[in-house]
Amino acid sequence: EVDEAVVKNVQMIELGRYRIKPWYFSPYPKELLQVDCIYLCEFCLKYCGSRVTLGRHLTKCQLKHPPGNEIYRKDSLSIFEIDGRRNKLYAQNLCLLAKLFLDHKNLDYDVDPFLFYVMAEIDSRGLHIVGYFSKEKVSVDENNLACLLTLPPYQRNGYGKLLIEFSYQLSKAEGKTGSPEKPLSDLGLLSYRSYWAQAVLEVLINQLPGPSGDRPCTTINDICEQTAIQKDDVIYTLKSLNLVNYIKGQHILCINNEAIKQHRAAMQKRKIRIDFSCLHWTPKD
Ligand code: COA
Ligand code: NA
Repeated sequence: EVDEAVVKNVQMIELGRYRIKPWYFSPYPKELLQVDCIYLCEFCLKYCGSRVTLGRHLTKCQLKHPPGNEIYRKDSLSIFEIDGRRNKLYAQNLCLLAKLFLDHKNLDYDVDPFLFYVMAEIDSRGLHIVGYFSKEKVSVDENNLACLLTLPPYQRNGYGKLLIEFSYQLSKAEGKTGSPEKPLSDLGLLSYRSYWAQAVLEVLINQLPGPSGDRPCTTINDICEQTAIQKDDVIYTLKSLNLVNYIKGQHILCINNEAIKQHRAAMQKRKIRIDFSCLHWTPKD
């Protein structure tokens, strides 16, 4: 017997200029599940059962960008901070959309305790959602990210890592370290491993004493402070890259030329980065 609650139920969605095939189940209202395609307003994320209904909505919808505060803008990329309590309907619609691509966790539809960081690409028609992450307003586990999504048409262009980088920049601005909520999806884990490796290597390489040195002048705590990555994740990354030896109760950091070469090649491919000077945000307490 098939459990209807977990079977993929939505055939297709249309969002702005994209038609996207969902990956997983999402609890859209039952009456919408009969239709071949769900039509979303790309700005407020309202869902409609037909193009006609969406058309009617678009004549009334005033939004040309995500709601909330624009807290980051550089070139044609922008990030909005949205409070789940103040923009409840938008946040719920965002969760419904995200669930179409998230299998592993029960999304929390009580959106009040969360902030949502929506990344948008700017053109003459408006600010178009690319992806987002959510974050608990108060996290006892020091999580700095709950859910992470790059919409499929935008995937594999570095936006996922950019969102991850942004989540750590916020932690840095808060003077904290953070970690993503577990469990991570396979794609989430791939993205984090790659991000952590590059962030840690960046610090190590900057702290080498000279061109021939292989002992970075830094400590695990320094790396945590500079990257805002939580200690367990830093240690995991150092170990997996073979950059740490545990000798007589002490962690000795060590880097080799091969790792440096690989890092430089990887960073060549990472064209877009978060520019901290373009963040207009102060942590709330
Ligand atoms: N297969 C293999 N590697 C992949 C991959 C895929 N389908 N998708 C991403 N990666 C790797 C990339 O190669 C890249 O590593 P690299 O720079 O070392 O090559 C890294 O993951 C990040 O890629 P990036 O382009 O920045 O990520 P993205 O914009 O594609 O977004 C996710 C990554 C996880 C946000 C996206 O796949 C997604 O939204 N998935 C569905 C929701 C989900 O699982 N979220 C995570 C929940 S914890
Ligand atoms: Na997550």
